[in-house]
Amino acid sequence: MKQMKEFQQNYVLSNGVKLPKIGFGTWQIKPGEEAYESVTLALKHGYKHIDTAAAYQNEKSVGEAIRDSGIKREDIFITTKLPAEIKDYDTAKKTFLQSLENLGLDYIDLYLIHAPWPWSEMGKDCREGNVAVYKAMEEFYREGKVRAIGVSNFSPEDIDNILEHCEITPHANQIGYFIGLDQSKTIDYCDEKEIFVIAYSPLGIGYLLSNEKIIKVAKTYEVSPAQICLRYLLQKGVAALPKSVHEKRIVENTRLDFVIKPEDMAFLDTIKGDPRRWS
Ligand code: A2P
Repeated sequence: MKQMKEFQQNYVLSNGVKLPKIGFGTWQIKPGEEAYESVTLALKHGYKHIDTAAAYQNEKSVGEAIRDSGIKREDIFITTKLPAEIKDYDTAKKTFLQSLENLGLDYIDLYLIHAPWPWSEMGKDCREGNVAVYKAMEEFYREGKVRAIGVSNFSPEDIDNILEHCEITPHANQIGYFIGLDQSKTIDYCDEKEIFVIAYSPLGIGYLLSNEKIIKVAKTYEVSPAQICLRYLLQKGVAALPKSVHEKRIVENTRLDFVIKPEDMAFLDTIKGDPRRWS
């Protein structure tokens, strides 16, 4: 039997739900034609996990592309997120139902708290609010409206607060993670608690692709820098969510059937820093 491509393989969350190793990230993909076309292309080329968020404002287009793809609902894994600004139970419930409606779905595979604090108040103490919205999410989970629940951009301390006051250990923590960005503290913590780590911005929102060291390794394996970035994350045991609006790149990011040797992984580990520019 032909071996399944790495791209087609799944991880398994602590509750037994399967999570595709590579998903399609839609942050910064404009609602309307751009989101519809790129998600359509991703599905055509075999992506089974589409990651969106209410805050991306593209849930409607993502939902349309999913419906029009003709792929069975149970064969697609959909993540969406509760906006970081919402920190009360009632609004969380309403907002979740709105996401379902936007997407045109009757359940979500993974629902996440987008961040522990509103983006305009990073670092604010929202412990009470995070517990309140997570409790709403626990209800969606028990009612079968979501197959897994979790958090995003949460530090170990933020997760400790959830574990202390809620019943269900988050199934996943989606964090910015790519070559050069040290996330070992959060990853070690999540491993210990069986919280699966999903990497967003796996290409450092594109900045890593011109890194000389990554280009050098890519040449050795006759692959692209993007493929090195993705393969590196798979070898670290996390799932990754590359984003692209170009078909050639969408396809390239699925071709990950090569193995980076330990010495080259160690060389990539010498890259340090966060090349993202937030401004
Ligand atoms: P584009 O969408 O124009 O194709 P990340 O996934 O870390 O957020 O990175 C996304 C950025 O990387 C986008 O600017 C995207 O551009 C670019 N990108 C995605 N895949 C590739 C690729 N295979 N080669 C070059 N650039 C890529």
